[in-house]
Amino acid sequence: MSRGAEIAIVPMRAEHIDALMPYEREMFGAEAWTASGYRTELADTERRYYLAGLTGDELLGWAGVMVIGDSAEILTVGVIPAARRHGLGRRLLDGLLDEARRRGAVEVFLEVRVDNEAAQSLYASEGFAQVGLRPGYYDAGRVDAVVMHREL
Ligand SMILES: CC(C)(COP(=O)(O)OP(=O)(O)OC[C@H]1O[C@@H](n2cnc3c(N)ncnc32)[C@H](O)[C@@H]1OP(=O)(O)O)[C@@H](O)C(=O)NCCC(=O)NCCS
Repeated sequence: MSRGAEIAIVPMRAEHIDALMPYEREMFGAEAWTASGYRTELADTERRYYLAGLTGDELLGWAGVMVIGDSAEILTVGVIPAARRHGLGRRLLDGLLDEARRRGAVEVFLEVRVDNEAAQSLYASEGFAQVGLRPGYYDAGRVDAVVMHREL
């Protein structure tokens, strides 16, 4: 990551997929999406919206949301290790929440691994509260998901 460079938040495009794939596998392991899965996600512009965080043309982070009716779901948020703890995860999440609101959502849900303290802390600081638990949601039944919710 180039130090001190401005980070632009832009709509994610198909050309960003190759750049994120190595990080996707490293961050999400067995839950990692494929490049073709991302292409399908990006093509569904009616229900989904993805953002990328870039410095120059280097991809530092990405995030996506789905809006159906008046309810939204955060689908993914990722920041590359070298760019963490500089506010990019929060900026990406805020961008998704703004777009969900603009599309008419009044509430938003997400799932996060019970052992993912960094992400839970980000979401809690953005007003999300735990509303449930999904036993065995990740890693072939080995790891539970915390379900979090906030109004928009
Ligand atoms: C979770 C993740 C997206 C956060 O991205 P980030 O750019 O580092 O987050 P930010 O710098 O915007 O941090 C915002 C807040 O989140 C919390 N947070 C972020 N990382 C944290 C950590 N390692 N430990 C504790 N709290 C953390 C803090 O409250 C932080 O605010 P602060 O820096 O003012 O204390 C990033 O760690 C990541 O990509 N992790 C791997 C993928 C992942 O787990 N995604 C979420 C799946 S549900």
